[in-house]
Amino acid sequence: MTEKIAVLGAGMIGGAVTKILLKNGYQGNLIVTDAVAEKVEEMKELGASATTNNRHAAAEADLLFVCVKPSDVRQLLKEISKEIKGKIVVSTAATLPLTFLKRTVPEAKFVRVMPNLAILVQASYTAYCCEKDVTIKDKEKIEKILSLMGICEEVDEKYMDAITGLSGSGPGYLSIVVEAMMYAGLKLGLPRNIALKAAAQTVVGTGKLMIELNEHPAKIRDMVTTPGGTTIEAIHVLEGSKVRQALMEAIGEAAKKSQLIREKLVDAVT
Ligand SMILES: NC(=O)c1ccc[n+]([C@@H]2O[C@H](COP(=O)([O-])OP(=O)(O)OC[C@H]3O[C@@H](n4cnc5c(N)ncnc54)[C@H](OP(=O)(O)O)[C@@H]3O)[C@@H](O)[C@H]2O)c1
Repeated sequence: MTEKIAVLGAGMIGGAVTKILLKNGYQGNLIVTDAVAEKVEEMKELGASATTNNRHAAAEADLLFVCVKPSDVRQLLKEISKEIKGKIVVSTAATLPLTFLKRTVPEAKFVRVMPNLAILVQASYTAYCCEKDVTIKDKEKIEKILSLMGICEEVDEKYMDAITGLSGSGPGYLSIVVEAMMYAGLKLGLPRNIALKAAAQTVVGTGKLMIELNEHPAKIRDMVTTPGGTTIEAIHVLEGSKVRQALMEAIGEAAKKSQLIREKLVDAVT
């Protein structure tokens, strides 16, 4: 039997989770909430059962996705604490550790996930980690649902800041790369729509090459670089730039910020 799922918070991530679940046969087994009445209406229009009543949704559900901002999570968990006893609660909140969630409602079973914006097109990289009360059977359920959203894998919680900096915020960095490639195309006289599509699809395809062929980026780079050809001219320029260093430093800074935000949020309640 399909478990009944509640999605609390129908913003960017919760809205995407809702759409994916609806697309995959959860209609009738899905209840969505949001603090904003218009968003509730939007979810109803999509075909979901929706309400502003978190406690009602939590009571109905076997498994919950909490998709509100990190600063709203504690209050929401307190509100539904009675209704989530013994249930799996998947938190998408950046930075908040499992210990913080468990301390808020000790009787619930928490899973912490870090998706990225590509969840909107079912192409997220989603890392997840679980606290000790989550069973192997629970994990199977979670993996089945997260797999609908793209690629998912279980990681040790100590990696979550790095994951947040790398793939959580990653669409932001790659947007800069794609935009720069698009502008290079414009400089060469390509029509804007062709330049954008060529750049974006090249990023999609390159990622697929690494994942589906299970190849290291250096191998892919080698495969496209013919002696005396065009690619080596571009690579020569890139290797003289600080593009690698810039990306490594940027991701390091994002991960550091994830840690700082957590310390601030967790310290505020301890
Ligand atoms: N966006 C990303 O790329 C991304 C990536 C990875 C992880 N995340 C995480 O995913 C979570 C959701 O992010 P988001 O970008 O989807 O945020 P969002 O667009 O702001 O969505 C959150 C929604 O929850 C609503 N809400 C707030 N308090 C609520 C409550 N008590 N009950 C029901 N609904 C409530 C908000 O309403 P109001 O607007 O009125 O507050 C808003 O509609 C965050 O914790 C974030 O850290 C986001």
